[in-house]
Amino acid sequence: MQEPLFGSVDEVVERLAAVGYLASTPVATTVYLADRLGKPLLVEGPAGVGKTELARAVAEATRSDLVRLQCYEGIDEARALYEWNHAKQLLRITAGRDEGWDQARDEVFSEEFLLPRPLLKAIRNPDPTVLLIDETDKADVEMEGLLLEVLGDFQVTVPELGTITAARRPFVLLTSNATRELSEALKRRCLFLHLDFPSAELERDIVTLKVPELDARLTESVVRVVGALRELELRKAPSIAETVDWARTLLALGAETLDEQVVEATLGVLLKYQSDHRKAAAELRLDRLTASS
Ligand SMILES: Nc1ncnc2c1ncn2[C@@H]1O[C@H](COP(=O)(O)OP(=O)(O)OP(=O)(O)O)[C@@H](O)[C@H]1O
Ligand SMILES: [Mg+2]
Repeated sequence: MQEPLFGSVDEVVERLAAVGYLASTPVATTVYLADRLGKPLLVEGPAGVGKTELARAVAEATRSDLVRLQCYEGIDEARALYEWNHAKQLLRITAGRDEGWDQARDEVFSEEFLLPRPLLKAIRNPDPTVLLIDETDKADVEMEGLLLEVLGDFQVTVPELGTITAARRPFVLLTSNATRELSEALKRRCLFLHLDFPSAELERDIVTLKVPELDARLTESVVRVVGALRELELRKAPSIAETVDWARTLLALGAETLDEQVVEATLGVLLKYQSDHRKAAAELRLDRLTASS
């Protein structure tokens, strides 16, 4: 058994907060359990709610190396696990013309000619490691097979070199926007966390943490307006990242209150579709939302 990263759920909350990530109790509990049970953590949720950031924060809080595998359509084993450095192999073979193939082969399929990619890097790293497999749903289904293999027993077989087993298990965090359902088999291996938009209270704390110079009442209004926007059926609801950007925008403009003009002028920070703009302009009851500030 390896040393756990965290001693308690409260410790998760504290140490993540110390590196700028405010976790709700359910989030902290899942992180704690994933570490204790040695299971990968699958975090699913809309864009910009802090999925990727959670992995970064866990790595920083536990002084672990962060190894990131960014998934995309068409990503394959050579990009995710390892590949041979063909150019270097060729050079080596050409340089040693007089030797027999057996000797050359043994040499060019050795460590020196291997290019480890994120999965292999994470498995071989002797230091504490957080392995972030980001946007897993963008990869093809075949990739899931590979992930299942690697995450199942934390070992990788390179035919020419043999089996490489993890010196220490990385803390694995997979993220997904749920653009497609991940396979049952993969889900079964993971602890699951649905990360949604935060409560108004938590979002206020996040904005206060990131933009401390903004007046507290204005921060309250910002969070309230964003909350109301998320209630409207928009094509793309504003995320935490956009709330923080909006707060920064208002600070930069030196706005003192959120009136209609200010909101109209800055709505582009929050809403990225013309149709959402129109909807917000028509349905958002700004007079009520900002009445108390
Ligand atoms: N709980 C939190 N505490 C502090 N900051 C947060 C938190 N959640 C989100 N953020 C902020 O929101 C930003 C966006 O988060 P992140 O990039 O992790 O989103 P995501 O869920 O990975 O989105 P996407 O699906 O688009 O990749 C982060 O840079 C961070 O500043
Ligand atoms: Mg992300």
